[in-house]
Amino acid sequence: MSTPALRFDVFTLFPRTVEAPLEESIIRRAIERGIVAVQAHDIRTWTHDRHRTADDTPYGGGAGMVMLAAPIVDGVEAVLGDELPAARVLVMTPAGRVFDQAMARDLARAQRVVVICGHYEGIDQRVIDVLGAEEVSIGDYVLTGGELAASVVIDAVARLVPGVIEEASISEESHSSGLVEYPQYTRPQQYRGLDVPGVLLSGHHAQIAAWRRAESIRKTAAIRPDLLAKADLTERERAKVEEITGDA
Ligand code: ADE
Repeated sequence: MSTPALRFDVFTLFPRTVEAPLEESIIRRAIERGIVAVQAHDIRTWTHDRHRTADDTPYGGGAGMVMLAAPIVDGVEAVLGDELPAARVLVMTPAGRVFDQAMARDLARAQRVVVICGHYEGIDQRVIDVLGAEEVSIGDYVLTGGELAASVVIDAVARLVPGVIEEASISEESHSSGLVEYPQYTRPQQYRGLDVPGVLLSGHHAQIAAWRRAESIRKTAAIRPDLLAKADLTERERAKVEEITGDA
């Protein structure tokens, strides 16, 4: 099989938690077709004591345990070898930069991405310093560990690698233009007394496109007004939004 376009190496205490979500559907197919590769590595492989210790108490005191630097750094260096300098290295943590579609697009252009999953109270800062890692959060809430966050990032990035899904789905979906997607309908035309909007049955492509665009903007203004400032809007659309919301 040829070299995958993008390879993820995930370092974790719980490899199965990372692997399980990749065993279904689109990402599984991308892996089977050799477009992307994902390898989960057990950090304990690079521990050296009888108990395979991967954590210790924090200097300065405080609750919980901190993951040791050495097993993680040794593991990343052993697996990546010469390719480490060119790889992107991510540490999943609620204290990181919040992951978004722009970050997903950027990561999809890499050839190798290392994802380090923290657990307990976090990982020794020197992992980040030595590996030049980027700290990434998937949102403002706290998970029990970085594994589910890693799966989220891998899924969002892998689907953007050319050949994984249809290009048209990507350009039309939520966040591609900084707006959330318009409402979708399929058969039947009437369900529980609710009709499909007439314009969608008209066959009039320009009107359908205009309706969808207006719905995207309306919905974004209603539920994600924070996105509007950076969204790709024409002068007229921006004026319209200001008219509805009182600002932009
Ligand atoms: N680990 C725990 N919570 C997290 C979050 N919100 N994002 C990334 N990693 C995490």
